[in-house]
Amino acid sequence: MAVMQIKPNIYSVGAIDWNRRLFDELIPIPEGTSYNSYVIKGAEKTALIDAVDPSKESELIANLQKLGIKKIDYLVSNHAEQDHSGAIPSILKLYPDAKVVTNQKCKSMLMDLLLIPDEKFIVIADGQALSLGGKTLQFMLAPWVHWPETMFTCLPEDKILFTCDFFGSHKATSELFTSIDYNIYDSAKRYYAEIMMPFRTQIQKHIEKVRELNPEIIAPSHGPLYKKPEFIINAYADWVSDNVKNTVLVPYVSMHGSTAKMVEYLVGALMERGIAVKPFDLPKTDIGELAISLVDAATVVFAAPTVLFGAHPGVVYAAYLANAIHPKVKFASIIGSYGWAGKTVEQIKGLLPNIKAEFLEPVVIKGFPKEENFKALDRLADDILRKHGEIGIVK
Ligand code: FEO
Repeated sequence: MAVMQIKPNIYSVGAIDWNRRLFDELIPIPEGTSYNSYVIKGAEKTALIDAVDPSKESELIANLQKLGIKKIDYLVSNHAEQDHSGAIPSILKLYPDAKVVTNQKCKSMLMDLLLIPDEKFIVIADGQALSLGGKTLQFMLAPWVHWPETMFTCLPEDKILFTCDFFGSHKATSELFTSIDYNIYDSAKRYYAEIMMPFRTQIQKHIEKVRELNPEIIAPSHGPLYKKPEFIINAYADWVSDNVKNTVLVPYVSMHGSTAKMVEYLVGALMERGIAVKPFDLPKTDIGELAISLVDAATVVFAAPTVLFGAHPGVVYAAYLANAIHPKVKFASIIGSYGWAGKTVEQIKGLLPNIKAEFLEPVVIKGFPKEENFKALDRLADDILRKHGEIGIVK
């Protein structure tokens, strides 16, 4: 529990979740996270921007009390997801004069998710502003970054942009601002991969809008704030661009060593051709690491043994998740081994409708790989090299 001043009359009052390791019961967050919340005191009115996860509402309330906040006029909700809204009902009980300020879509979701009554809301439109007296809240709708109701709040007098999830990172840290050595890059990339990547196209448009605003501080609702926002804006611009790297990812499972031998051979063949390659032994992999690599790899090769008549469920799961986060990979293929028969290729391909990649000829073999199978893997490595050359990423 800590109250930290960002600028005069602007405070960080959220909570740090040092020990959380899983988000949505799905997403690994090895560095914990924070649920940031901000108090802005104007000459006439006081605003709270975003609340916190319900598990941490007592910390938010304690911080507000520590700061001596007697009245909240506006409780701005930039996003309805419960890790930022879950404490709103308790705040409304404690501060009965407070109104929840948000857009129509977010209001509707907050009413559904948290049963907040209609009369508690002030609905704002894109570009609308509310004065606190000497400080202005300016609202900017940002639909599908990453939910349909997401929005940002700008404080023009102080050049601060509150972006909620956008530009966030699941990182528990005592630092209010990112440190000068930019050690936040990997955490932010993981966050982008796991949360934001499915909305790459929408994000491209909003990056330009953020650049036009030219904020001095970006204050997300997870992780530290950015005092040099061009760093994170440029990183996002790179991630959402169509650019890919000369890299092949090989998520795989092997039960008795045949598929592992194929992976080992393919990895070596790609390295010998000057292509970066990352194998992921899925049963031992933090799936977030695979997601991070999918941000900018050119090619993914799923490698699966056949269990009964289909791909191993570990690979099915990875393919399903990869499809869900819409990576910009340009090429894909499938390798693996079976005992008697199976539909591994059709099954994995069918799981990837969102991946607009060109499928290269798969190498699916019977039993342990033999000489002709290694030649087929060399052919696949040659295909990948040629394709990477065609899109200009081979140095
Ligand atoms: Fe951090 Fe979409 O909630």
